Amino acid sequence: MAAKIISGTEVAGQIREELRKEVTELKEKHNVVPGLVTILVGENPASISYVTGKQKTAKELGFYSLQDNQADNITEESLLGLIDKYNKDPKIHGILVQLPLPKHINETKVLYAIDPKKDVDGFHPVNLGKLMIGEADYLPCTPAGVQQLLIRSGVETSGAEVVVVGRSNIVGKPVTNILLQKQKGANATVTICHTGTKDMASHTRRADILIVAAGKPKAITADMVKEGAVVIDVGVNRIGKSESGKAILCGDVDFEAVKEKASAITPVPGGVGPMTITMLMMNTVKSAKVHAGLV
Ligand code: GUN
Repeated sequence: MAAKIISGTEVAGQIREELRKEVTELKEKHNVVPGLVTILVGENPASISYVTGKQKTAKELGFYSLQDNQADNITEESLLGLIDKYNKDPKIHGILVQLPLPKHINETKVLYAIDPKKDVDGFHPVNLGKLMIGEADYLPCTPAGVQQLLIRSGVETSGAEVVVVGRSNIVGKPVTNILLQKQKGANATVTICHTGTKDMASHTRRADILIVAAGKPKAITADMVKEGAVVIDVGVNRIGKSESGKAILCGDVDFEAVKEKASAITPVPGGVGPMTITMLMMNTVKSAKVHAGLV
């Protein structure tokens, strides 16, 4: 039987509706407007598209939102100066520096410079460390979105065999840490596979929940998936352009074949992608409340 399609667009829409109400109430009752700045360095088309989506959503939700575009030859020092300015700006509660950055800029140094209390991306080592001990203030957005998709689709994670493909700092490692916490919507047995894994399929075939962030189109084929598994595809691969010039996207999972075997699966686009942006908005609202002393 074909799998249920887990629509990230739909779940993200529900959460955004909840956030919209919260933002209105924050404004009316407390005169607080969540503020988000997204910093884009250079002209990477994928980054432009991500940042545009983040800004559009922030505006739709009634945020104070700023888009700060910088040329790709900006010095590291100037970029750090810019971050310092936003760290001190009381109207800004969330600072996002879109990755990747040009090679001459040390990404780690830039992420360290963001005030952890304004780190709505959840990439600062303080926030990643807190995540490891189950004390996270801000969860990284894509992994948090994956967890929300599972929870809101009624997928039981407690006791489940979860296999994560990919060990990136943005997805693989944090999603592993989120799902192994002894908490609601987690408490899973989690295995991470990566490019050094011997016999990947022997691991993926054991998964009740398979989370794929490999960065490789159709890396997961039907023979690698257990009958009835829940498959979450985090991959976004640009495999061409349509006649109108729009990017054609595909995930890391062979969707057409795997959907015949899985019990539930996320599509690309319309799966994890909309959730990432929504979790960024959720973190920014939380930061605005923390800064206003409301939580
Ligand atoms: N590049 C790819 N994904 C992300 C993300 O979630 N946040 C930032 N800042 N950059 C990214």
